[in-house]
Amino acid sequence: MNQEEAPLFEALCFHKDQNRGNYHVPGHKQGKTFDPLGREHFGDLLTIDLTEIAALDDLHQPEGVIRKAQELAAAAFGADRTFFLVGGCTAGNISLILASCQPGDQLIIHRASHQSVFNGCHLAGVRPVFLSGRGDAPLGGEITGEDLEEAILRHPGVKGVFLTSPDYFGRVQPISQLAKVCHRHGLPLMVDEAHGAHFGFHPHLPPPALTQGADGVVQSTHKMLTAMTMGSMLHLKGNRIDGGLVAKGLGMIQSSSPSYPLMASLDLARRFMVKMGQGELQKTLNQASLIREHLAGMRHLKEDTKSGSDPLKLSIRADRRISGYGMQKWLEKRGIDPELADHEKVLFVLSPGMKRDEAVRLIGALRRLDQAIPQWEESPHHPIPHLPVLSESHLSWDRLRLISGETIPLPQAEGRMAAEMVIPYPPGVPVVLPGEILSTEQIRHILHILDKGGRVRGVTPGFPPGLHVIK
Ligand SMILES: Cc1ncc(COP(=O)(O)O)c(C=O)c1O
Repeated sequence: MNQEEAPLFEALCFHKDQNRGNYHVPGHKQGKTFDPLGREHFGDLLTIDLTEIAALDDLHQPEGVIRKAQELAAAAFGADRTFFLVGGCTAGNISLILASCQPGDQLIIHRASHQSVFNGCHLAGVRPVFLSGRGDAPLGGEITGEDLEEAILRHPGVKGVFLTSPDYFGRVQPISQLAKVCHRHGLPLMVDEAHGAHFGFHPHLPPPALTQGADGVVQSTHKMLTAMTMGSMLHLKGNRIDGGLVAKGLGMIQSSSPSYPLMASLDLARRFMVKMGQGELQKTLNQASLIREHLAGMRHLKEDTKSGSDPLKLSIRADRRISGYGMQKWLEKRGIDPELADHEKVLFVLSPGMKRDEAVRLIGALRRLDQAIPQWEESPHHPIPHLPVLSESHLSWDRLRLISGETIPLPQAEGRMAAEMVIPYPPGVPVVLPGEILSTEQIRHILHILDKGGRVRGVTPGFPPGLHVIK
C-alpha cells in the first residue's frame, strides 16, 4: 500500500477544485455563506466541509476513498481492520462493548476506566465486574495476570476484558501477559489506548497494545497525534471481535453526517506519522530530555516517575505538599496551560514535533514556579480513596439507568447509594460509580477536589454541593 497517499483528503481537494454546482448540505455551501466574523478562520476548512456526495464515499458503508483511507490506517497501525471515529474514543469504547455483550452479560472492566466505558456498560445493559491495579498509583497500579485470572475464574461466562492502557499519565499495563490470560480462556481483550496512538512510531516508546495481543484497540488520534479534536480510530486484529457488529454499533451511536474535515484529518495524521512520525517524535524526546535535565536541578519540583512509562507525559509534583491545582493556577496566570492537575501534581503533554523554544518556555516557567514555592503554605496530605482489586456493582446497570433518585448535600451522603457517576474531569475517571455505597473517604476526596478548584461532573454546584443518590 502506498502510504504517501491520503485518498480521502485528496478526493476532497479534487472535488473542491472542480468548482461544481453545490445544491446540497451543509448550508454554508463550502464557506460561501458564513458569518463574516469567523470567515477568516474557518474559510479554507469550509471549502472541504462536504458530505456524502459524488465520489466522497460513506463512513457507514465505505466502498471508496474512506474505505481506502481506513485500509491504509489499518496497515500503518498493524490492524486487520480499522474504523475512523468522529465521536472520539468515546464512540469506539461504547461500540466495542455493544459488539461484545448482550444485555445481562458480564464484562471485566478496569475500575479506572474512562466514563465512556461505564456508559458503554449502561447502554449495552452489561453487568460489569471491576478490576483494579495494585499499588497506590494515581489511577490504580499495575493489573497482574494472577488477579485477572482470578476475576475470570470467579465469573465464568464473562464475555471479555476491557482495560485502559496507557492511562492519562502514561502508565501502561502488561498487555502481552494479560492478553495471554484472556486468550487462554477464549476471551477477547479490548484496550482503551486513547493516550497511546503514538506508541507504534518510535522504538523508545512502549509497544502498542495491538502488537501485544489485544483484539480491539481504541485510540484518540486527536490526543497524542495530530488529528482534529474528536478524530479517533478503532482497530481490530484477529477474529475474536465481530467487525460487523462493531460497524453496526458505530452506525447507531455516531452521526449519519460525519465531518469530512475531521475524517480527512485522520487520513493525514496517519500519512504524517508513517512518513515523518519517528523524526517528529525524536524531536520531542530530545526536548523532553532537556526539560528533565533542568528539572533534575530544581529544588522543589520533581518529576513524578511512578506516574508512567510514556516519556511524552511529564507529571510534576512539589516536594512540599502543594496541590497540583495550585501549581496549575499559578502557571495559567503566567500564560502556561498544562494538560491537567490533580491534588498532587500537574501533567504536561509533550506532542510530536516539539520545538526547542517550547521546551525553553516551559523550563523558564517551571524554574520560576520552583522559586515561588517556598512562599506557599503547605497543605495537609490528602489520601486518595483505596479501590478494591476486584468488585461488583450492587445493582444491575441496565436498571440503574432508569432508576429515580434524589439530590442530597454531599457531606451527608455517607452510606447512601450513588445514582450517578462522579467524575473529576479531566482525567474523566469516575471516583464514584452508580450503585456504589458512598464512603467517607470518597466524599472527602470529592470535597477536596472541589475545594482546590478542580472540576467534578455529577455533583450539583452549591454550598454545600449536592449529590444524586438512589431513594
Ligand atoms: C482513558 C481515556 N479513554 C477515553 C477517553 C475519551 O476519548 P475522546 O475524548 O476521544 O472521546 C479519554 C478522554 O480523555 C480518556 O482519557
